[in-house]
Amino acid sequence: MSERNIIAIVDQRSASAPPATLPRIPELPAAPTGLLSDGRGRPLHDLRISVTDRCNFRCSYCMPKEVFDKHHQFLPQSALLSFEEILRLARLFVAHGVHKIRLTGGEPLLRKHLERLIEMLATLRTPDGTALDLTLTTNGSVLARKAAALKAAGLQRVTISLDAMDDAIFRRMNDVDFPVADVLAGIDAAVAAGLGPIKVNMVVKRGTNEQEIVPMARHFRDHYGGQVVLRFIEYMDVGATNGWRMDEVLPSADVQRLIAQHFPLDALEPSQPGETAERWRYRDGRGEVGFISSVTQAFCGDCNRARLSTEGQLYLCLFAQHGHDLRSLLRQPHPDGRPYRDDEIAAAIGLIWTQRDDRYSQLRASQPMDSASPSGRRIEMSYIGG
Ligand code: GTP
Ligand code: 5AD
Ligand code: SF4
Ligand code: SF4
Repeated sequence: MSERNIIAIVDQRSASAPPATLPRIPELPAAPTGLLSDGRGRPLHDLRISVTDRCNFRCSYCMPKEVFDKHHQFLPQSALLSFEEILRLARLFVAHGVHKIRLTGGEPLLRKHLERLIEMLATLRTPDGTALDLTLTTNGSVLARKAAALKAAGLQRVTISLDAMDDAIFRRMNDVDFPVADVLAGIDAAVAAGLGPIKVNMVVKRGTNEQEIVPMARHFRDHYGGQVVLRFIEYMDVGATNGWRMDEVLPSADVQRLIAQHFPLDALEPSQPGETAERWRYRDGRGEVGFISSVTQAFCGDCNRARLSTEGQLYLCLFAQHGHDLRSLLRQPHPDGRPYRDDEIAAAIGLIWTQRDDRYSQLRASQPMDSASPSGRRIEMSYIGG
C-alpha cells in the first residue's frame, strides 16, 4: 500500500467519524412524556436521519473532490443502521415529542430500497395520534424516476438542493458535471406527484453563484404558481474540509435586498417556533421565499433539531464535536447479558436531550466575524446530514 493511501485513510476516518460516547441509562428509566426539553428549555421536535454518507455530487462546500476522492473510506454496509434499527429509534424519538422526521444523507435516494423505510416510518404516530411530517432533502438527481414511488410509500414532501439555473455554473458547483435540466425534471416530477409544499434550497457563495440569485428567484416564482418555495442559505463553516472563509458568505440581508429590487417583498410571520428560514412573500402574490441565515443571524435560541447519523450516533448540533452512540445500545448486550430494552434506550435519549446546551452559531456570532471557527474536530455535513 502506498504511503498516500495510509495517510488518506487515517485522515478521513477522523474527519467523518468523530468519537462517540456510550449513553448512560438512568437507574430508574422514566417513560417518555412527549414533552422533553433541553437545558435551555428547547423542546425536541425534529429528527434528521442520515441514511447514507455517500453522494453522487461533490459540491465544494460539502464534499470537496480533493477530500472525498477514490481513497475516501465511506462507511461499510454493516456500520449503517438497518431500517429496523432506524424505525426502533424513530419510534422512541416520537414518544419523546418528535413531530417531524427528515431523511438526509449524503444523498438519501442512493440508499437502496429507501421507499421501504419510508413505508415503515409513515406508520408512526405522535402521542396525540397524528401522522408525522415526513420529508426528505435530496439533490434531485434521481427524483424524476423516484418521486411517484416515494409519494406512494408515504413521503409527504421533499426539499431539493439547487444552487444555480445556469447549466455551466451548476455543473461546476456539483463538480461531477451533472446537468441542471435533470434536477429541474426532478422538481417537476415532485410537483406532479404531490410532494408539496416543495422547497428548493440554494447555498449562496459569494464569487461563485451570486449572479444566480435573481434568475433562481424569477424561475421559481414564475413557473410553479407559488407551489415551490425557494430558500437562500448562507454558506456555513460546517465540517472541516470545505476551506470556509467569511468573505465567501453573502449575508441574507444583501440577498433579500437584491431580490426586492426586482420583485417587491413583504415579511411574513414565522409559521412555527424554531424555524430555520425567515419568510417573505412576493407582493404580487407569486408565492414566497425564505432566508436561512445561520452565519449572520443565528437561530440556536429555539433550535429543536436532533440528528441521527448514518451509523446511529445522536448529535445535538450540526457543529457538534462528538455524538452519542445509540447504535451500541441496539447492538451490544446490556451488562446483564440481555439486549437493552426500549424503555432504557428511551430514557438514555431523554437524559442526553435534557443535558443539551449546544448553540454553536450563537456563540460563533459573538466572536469577530472573520475569526476562525472554534478549534476541534467537527463532523461533515455529508455524514450527519444537512
Ligand atoms: P422545513 O421544515 O422544510 O422548513 O425544514 P428545515 O429548514 O428545517 O430543513 P432543511 O433541510 O431544508 O434546512 C435547510 C438548510 O438549513 C440545511 O441544509 C442547513 O444548511 C440549514 N440548517 C438546517 N437546520 C439547521 C440547524 O439546526 N443549524 C444550522 N446552523 N443550520 C441548519
Ligand atoms: N453551508 C450551507 N449549507 C450547506 N449544506 C451542505 N453544506 C453546506 C454549507 N457548507 C446544505 C445545503 C444542501 C444540503 C444538503 O446541505 O442546504 O442543500
Ligand atoms: Fe451531495 Fe448535498 Fe453534499 Fe452536494 S450538498 S455533495 S448534493 S450531500
Ligand atoms: Fe441548532 Fe447547532 Fe444549528 Fe444552533 S448551530 S441552530 S444549536 S444545530
